[in-house]
Amino acid sequence: MRAHPAVARAHDLGGAAPEAAWEERVQRAAHPLAYPALRSARNRPVVRVPRIGVVVSDAALAREVLLDLDHFSKVGPGAPSDLWTPVLGPSVLLNMEGAEHAALRRALGPLFSPRAVRELVAADDGDAGVLPDLTRRLAAGEAVDLAAVVGAQAGAVICGMVGLPPTDEAVRSSMAAAQTITGMVRLHRHGLTRSQVVRARTVLERLTAPARIAYRAGDPATVPGRMRDLGLSEREAMGAVGAFVLTGTETIQSFVPRLVAIAHDAGWTARLLADDAPLRRRAVEEGLRVTVPTPAMLRSVRAGTSVGGVPVAAGDRVVIATVNCCRAGGGFDPDRSVDPAVRHLWFGAGPHFCLGMPLAMAQVDAVLDALAAAASDGRVPVVGGRRAARGVLVPAYRSLELRLGDPGRAPVRSAARVAS
Ligand code: HEM
Repeated sequence: MRAHPAVARAHDLGGAAPEAAWEERVQRAAHPLAYPALRSARNRPVVRVPRIGVVVSDAALAREVLLDLDHFSKVGPGAPSDLWTPVLGPSVLLNMEGAEHAALRRALGPLFSPRAVRELVAADDGDAGVLPDLTRRLAAGEAVDLAAVVGAQAGAVICGMVGLPPTDEAVRSSMAAAQTITGMVRLHRHGLTRSQVVRARTVLERLTAPARIAYRAGDPATVPGRMRDLGLSEREAMGAVGAFVLTGTETIQSFVPRLVAIAHDAGWTARLLADDAPLRRRAVEEGLRVTVPTPAMLRSVRAGTSVGGVPVAAGDRVVIATVNCCRAGGGFDPDRSVDPAVRHLWFGAGPHFCLGMPLAMAQVDAVLDALAAAASDGRVPVVGGRRAARGVLVPAYRSLELRLGDPGRAPVRSAARVAS
């Protein structure tokens, strides 16, 4: 019998397991052209790819680029500034460098303290909250769509950031707004078209309107109010809110369902949900390593130099193929030790290292806690039907059905499921 093409491609990636095949489908559904182009560069540490840029697929070289601030920048042709400055303005962390960038990061730091992060995530924790509802429904034997649940949780966190109570309608429209904007980005295009910029600005303006009101009211119970207390100007605060929504929403919505799907496919769900924090941490980090929710990082060359022996000139675009760097170590295996060059590269390195990492990890933990609370009598959530999302910036499941079942009888490692 011939293998389904996704299985064949997963073999090609060095992973024959179903989790690799499903990951392949999720990636290709999001980026049918750019993803194969990026992956085709994976066997060369650095290579120039027409229309995309100088692609770096080696973790140690990637770190060198991210830490070399004299030659590489997030501001300049082909860098994130091309994409985001027209929409968010010039000073929103991810399009800044140098002393101003460091000062803004310092000012924003307290928003991601363990306590602040706990409060943001717990805002959704009341009886009517999304995660208590997840636990209840699973425990009652219902099937739930984890992609929808995590989307609602991420939307509730956005509401917290913009200072809105997380009503169903507010959550839905925040998520839709964030996705409208990020869905416009494509790797082979260096910027957005003029009409996309106009549309993105309109959507963002609507999304951040409550944040502006909360900032002006200065209520420290809201994130924009706290930003004012921390000394941020209104412009800086609105830029930061926009940056958080764009960077922190789809990444979480992408990662959590993919982690749960991988754990299911690899027979790891019971261990992922066990009352064993170090084991869970290893599985989550390994999930991040193989999913790489931010598959690439962009830099513009400021001054001529070379990367891994390949000359680059001022104005060139460097694409760090984080997905290639991180997945070179093989398929999902939390028992294997991770190459130090790769460790946490999925959150970046150097001055732009993910500011939201503590919030991301708290959100992941909150969902896993809710799943663990539902698991009982040796039953764990097992995956039923699933569909990959098309046309999104961050590869994700559009739906992932879960219900409690016997892990021993879960249809693990069945290649036929890949063809669904
Ligand atoms: C699993 C989830 C996440 C992953 C994998 C991730 C990954 C990353 C990566 C790779 C970067 C560096 C990009 C670069 O250097 O070009 C970054 C930056 C950033 N992330 Fe995250 N992120 C996640 C969640 C979040 C969340 C929840 C927030 C919440 C607000 C957030 C906020 C940011 C911000 C503001 C930056 C820009 C930092 C700067 O430029 O100084 N991220 N993220």
